[in-house]
Amino acid sequence: MGIRFRGWGIGLPDKIVTNDDLSLTLDTSDEWISERTGIRARRIGGTTRSLGADAGRAALRDAGLEPGDIDFLILATTSADRIAPSTAAMIQDDLGMTCPAMDLNAACSGFVYGLRVAQGLTEVGTRRVMLIGSEHLSRWTDWTDRSTAVLFGDGAGATILEYDEAGSDVLSFVLGTDGASADILACEHESTFTMDGREVFRRAVRVVVDSSEKAIAEAGLTPEDIDLVIPHQANVRIIQAVVERLGIPMERAVVTLDRYGNTSSSSIPLAFHAAREEGRIREGAHALLTGFGAGMTWASSVVKWSPGPGVL
Ligand code: UT7
Repeated sequence: MGIRFRGWGIGLPDKIVTNDDLSLTLDTSDEWISERTGIRARRIGGTTRSLGADAGRAALRDAGLEPGDIDFLILATTSADRIAPSTAAMIQDDLGMTCPAMDLNAACSGFVYGLRVAQGLTEVGTRRVMLIGSEHLSRWTDWTDRSTAVLFGDGAGATILEYDEAGSDVLSFVLGTDGASADILACEHESTFTMDGREVFRRAVRVVVDSSEKAIAEAGLTPEDIDLVIPHQANVRIIQAVVERLGIPMERAVVTLDRYGNTSSSSIPLAFHAAREEGRIREGAHALLTGFGAGMTWASSVVKWSPGPGVL
């Protein structure tokens, strides 16, 4: 008994903002940003609703499903368009769906948290869950602060999860939250993101390595069995530090932050989508999904791709 991935889809704004573009208005340079983070460009525009609806529509098409086939919509987001109603409710309407819909905020761990909630829903009788990660972080960015403005981007990714009594694509989960670390990365109402970057970096490596090791062991595997690492895309140096500590070669990590920057809960589905486009998702392959973010939250999950419409 478990859940299977069906279709995937993404939604991205058309506007590409390069590091050189940012250095026209900020005291920064392409050299500093690309060396310290790996980011070269990011997409800016749309709304959490519009990008999320684009991703959800694409996932439906990819899975060959109709809006009426979805029984629950979860939107993982840190940048809801309004306090109320939920952005999920708006997307549900845009997609012509009638199922229950809700937002989930676990910052950059939101997509894997959403996966866990989706699994729980299928255990109590929900057949299909659409899980979207969508972010409009540019709205909550201080464009005069070089320490954060160079990092974030907008975008969305979605998948559809389906109950299967015969087995599961999702083998393990390790989730956590440390609310005592809340102030190192935060955004107040009507304000912009502030961050102690070095501290986030330090803690991120620790919690991602720890939760990944536990998730791999819980799946009955060792790091050598992991074919693909699909990490949250905050900084390529964090990804390098994590895979090195796990003993997994860097070639197995999927990196998309060079094109999209840090898109919080959208970064894992955007990275999955890129890996699939590059032909890196193979039947039977094991992948480690792992994220961390404000909260602090962290979430790691090991998945195994089974053949199915829209996945391979
Ligand atoms: O989604 C999860 C949330 N975010 C993260 O995971 C971010 C985690 N942290 C990081 O990725 C890194 O800490 C940053 C990319 C944010 C910063 O990199 P760093 O290597 O930790 O730099 P730093 O904060 O230690 O700053 C080094 C220097 C400072 O100058 P001084 O004090 O040495 O003169 C900064 O003022 O770099 C300066 N600096 C910049 N210079 C040019 C900071 N931002 C910039 C910039 N351009 N954009």
